Amino acid sequence: MRVWAIANQKGGVGKTTTTLCLARNLADDARVLVVDLDPHASLTRAFGVPRQPPPIGTHEVFVAQTPSLDGLSRTTAIERLRLVAAQPALATLERRSATQPGLGMALQRALGGVSELYDHVLLDCPPTLSLLMVNALAAADCLVMPTQTDPLALHGLADMLRTADMVERSRKRPLMRAILPTLYDGRTGSGRQSLEHLYAGYEGLVWSDAIPVDTRLRDARSIAGNGPLTGRGAEAYRSALAWLHTRMAAAVPDDSAAVAA
Ligand SMILES: Nc1ncnc2c1ncn2[C@@H]1O[C@H](COP(=O)(O)OP(=O)(O)O)[C@@H](O)[C@H]1O
Ligand SMILES: [Mg+2]
Repeated sequence: MRVWAIANQKGGVGKTTTTLCLARNLADDARVLVVDLDPHASLTRAFGVPRQPPPIGTHEVFVAQTPSLDGLSRTTAIERLRLVAAQPALATLERRSATQPGLGMALQRALGGVSELYDHVLLDCPPTLSLLMVNALAAADCLVMPTQTDPLALHGLADMLRTADMVERSRKRPLMRAILPTLYDGRTGSGRQSLEHLYAGYEGLVWSDAIPVDTRLRDARSIAGNGPLTGRGAEAYRSALAWLHTRMAAAVPDDSAAVAA
């Protein structure tokens, strides 16, 4: 089982869209679980899970110290793709963590219980360096950082990489990192310049292409439905996934057979 954290300490950069598009492509031939770790629950809403009554899901990992995620997941419209839903109560977790030690590893423990059930787990992270983000980074094999090709978003990326370094040092296990340029508009000078800065500043970490702005990716509910994923944006995500697989196989050679299977 491979665990992917989709994270960036900035909001609106395409984390949830990236989680959905990668998960849908992976689910073509593998068993996939997506976990919504964001109290705003955009991923959960995309799958049509109602707000009320609050669904069972991610919050239980922390309050009940659930030993496995298995009982917390639900089916989606997409074959082989299951969801662990987020609840607004996730926003209150920080307070709890002050009095309850060991919460930083709760997600990793819960994932241990489903390691035979899924080939890939994707964690859609909140845009803050919170207990939830730390849990995701502690559990992940690969950190995918969607980064908007916009000058301000590049600052957020440096923060994110510092956080990844810190977590990697403390967990003593390598964390593969990959940057996906997103929301790219090649018609604007600032878009082109930001992409150039990304390539120059983070050589070796950045995908050599970019996910374009594409209106067909604007509605997360349609990506989470079972219709075909078409258009330039969807195509770009397919290429990005192929690149991520190659990087993952090179970083962890033992896993290459499982990824190709
Ligand atoms: N490639 C894209 N083309 C067009 N709209 C996009 C694209 N990627 C994301 N969006 C839209 O941009 C907004 C922010 O994306 P989202 O994935 O929710 O970001 P985050 O999870 O980082 O907050 C959403 O309205 C989403 O539908
Ligand atoms: Mg999001």
